[in-house]
Amino acid sequence: MKAYLGLISAVALTLAACGGEAPAPAAEPAAPAEAPAAEAPAAVEATPASEAASASAPAAEAAAPAAGDCSVDITGDDAMKYNLSEITVKASCGQFTVNLEHVGTAPLAAMGHNVVIAKSADKNGIVGDSAANGGNVKEDDERVVAATKLIGGGEKTSVTFDTAKLEKGGAYEFFCSFPGHVGTMSGKVNVVD
Ligand code: CO
Repeated sequence: MKAYLGLISAVALTLAACGGEAPAPAAEPAAPAEAPAAEAPAAVEATPASEAASASAPAAEAAAPAAGDCSVDITGDDAMKYNLSEITVKASCGQFTVNLEHVGTAPLAAMGHNVVIAKSADKNGIVGDSAANGGNVKEDDERVVAATKLIGGGEKTSVTFDTAKLEKGGAYEFFCSFPGHVGTMSGKVNVVD
């Protein structure tokens, strides 16, 4: 029995040896497989590098639009509507510009539009006082943070104001002071850093 066991063991060892040889060549292909694996870590190392690059890229992108964010384009139409319901003013801009374009065709007398920025609490008072002046805000109205002139269809205008006039977190609105327009032409002004 011991002989048999020995034989069996020998066979087993031989098989094992044979089996060992078979994997051996397989181990060689495995080596090349390790090579790409070694390249993989390199790629992994490169990834953080590209991440760092992409991380700085958005930062650059964020900085670039910052300058452009210091103005806003608003349109008003013959349907007595603005295209925006709210705008955001960055206090850090220092100077902020509102560009208004009347994209309708109705004349000023019939469909005048402007953009007035003021505290929400002052809106109705400003509009009321402007009514006697054809919708134009009074030049000496201290409640007015900024105001463009009134324009008719096809015209453009703009106004630039000091963002220091706005308190962060304050409730402000932009609106048209032309008689009867404030109801549909009014939006929120968000003041941020
Ligand atoms: Co209007």
